Amino acid sequence: MASPAMESFDLVITNGVCVTASDVAAFDVAIKDEKIVLLAPTGSLASANATRIIDAEGGYVTPGGIDAHVHLQEPPMFGKGTTSDNFESGTRSAIAGGVTTIVPFAPQQKHEPSLLKALAETHDKARDNSYCDYGFHLLVGNPSEQALAELDTIPQEQGITSLKIYMTYTALQLRDDQILSVLLKAREKRILTMIHAENGDVLNWLTDQLEARRLFDPKYHSHSRPPILEAEATNRAIALSSIIANTPILLVHVSDPGAAARIRQAQTNGQPVFAETCPQYLFLTRDDLESCSGFDGAKHVCSPPPRDRASQDAIWTGVKNGTFTILSSDHCPFNFDDADSGKKACITEEHPVGRFRHIPNGIPGIETRLPLIFSSSDRLPLTKIVEVSATNPAKLYGLYPRKGAMIPGVSDADLVVWYPHDTGRSITITNGALHHATDYTPYEGQTVNNWPRFTVLRGKVVWDKDNGGILGDKSYGQFLKRLPTSLDGIWDTVDKQGPFDVSAF
Ligand code: URP
Ligand code: ZN
Ligand code: ZN
Repeated sequence: MASPAMESFDLVITNGVCVTASDVAAFDVAIKDEKIVLLAPTGSLASANATRIIDAEGGYVTPGGIDAHVHLQEPPMFGKGTTSDNFESGTRSAIAGGVTTIVPFAPQQKHEPSLLKALAETHDKARDNSYCDYGFHLLVGNPSEQALAELDTIPQEQGITSLKIYMTYTALQLRDDQILSVLLKAREKRILTMIHAENGDVLNWLTDQLEARRLFDPKYHSHSRPPILEAEATNRAIALSSIIANTPILLVHVSDPGAAARIRQAQTNGQPVFAETCPQYLFLTRDDLESCSGFDGAKHVCSPPPRDRASQDAIWTGVKNGTFTILSSDHCPFNFDDADSGKKACITEEHPVGRFRHIPNGIPGIETRLPLIFSSSDRLPLTKIVEVSATNPAKLYGLYPRKGAMIPGVSDADLVVWYPHDTGRSITITNGALHHATDYTPYEGQTVNNWPRFTVLRGKVVWDKDNGGILGDKSYGQFLKRLPTSLDGIWDTVDKQGPFDVSAF
């Protein structure tokens, strides 16, 4: 390579402090042809030959965020209601919040036998409609013979190496024997299985009990889903994966310390059990739902529900000690003030404050995830924040080191330039300042001390908070074919163990 003084670059970021999952150090970053090509001593590229030079003014520079749990343009599956963000609005919101890659779901509904059809339909929704790069997880609602056969070729041919299954929701819940069939196929094909662990039968029974006592308000959503119901399902999910010769699983959106403790125990036993948590379990509590008057609590209805303050503390500890591999938003937005397909679709004359069993489950959060967690450097090292929000999602979902890293010559130039860090800065989150198409944020009024100043996707500045806001366009985002997870060499370990053998029991 020519010396940096002679080389020409597309973009240089000077005077920044780079934060990766392992280091915090001042470097200038040079970008060419969509890649990071050089990290150089700080200030050394300030007058480089570059189409554009951004002065980070001492602010942190991090890999672009990866949000690996996002629901966009999905049909009603989580109660009565349709997600309010499509690919265009959801990914617009993503880049304004420093997210350069998302992994949303390609949902297969119960009445559909095919996964490939679900995948094709989701490609049609996303194509030319995404401001950021994206892959897909399959959401398996019907593990039919056809669906399981399609999984033989999907990882290699389609670049989809993860799927999600549910232990709850009438529209999606699988029986244990169906879960075992999915896990077996996933093990054979090196697919990571994401599991929504709540006991659907128990929560339906508790819901019937609450309704028999005429307790319909939004706040009873959390009463219908006590922590033990999550811990039981988590324990069962881990047991089922151990039956399938320890096939790797990821427990999604974990909220309960009991569930986290069971996950930690499995990890200590050497089982390939991973876990995700979300900002709603770090920044919201059950009180946010309980203290709302009337139907307002519906703004906080998601599953599992936010827990009490002690649980919140335990989940923070789990992020810090590595029980949680990733932090995702679980952006699953529904408009609040929408009686046709939003939260208010459950309001009737008979139930003027709604019926919690029909409130669509899910909250928005794609844009607020990184500002919230990045403002928590008093609770977590900056390296850990980058690890759980960018680097580990890239490793877990087969995108590393192209994504989630800052390796010259290798990594895409996906970066966030933050404002110079000042813990005294206070930015109040308001829905009016966000870029999704949803009419509220559950974080309204919470304060953060930083926000992405610039978001760079494959070398292009797609978000400039102070000069134009959204600068990217919705046809720039690319579909990413993914490889099997590279985290902890887990597939090598699984291979060494040999195939599932029922006669071994
Ligand atoms: O309440 C939630 N989490 N809604 C989204 C659907 C899901 O299970 O992730
Ligand atoms: Zn879920
Ligand atoms: Zn979800």
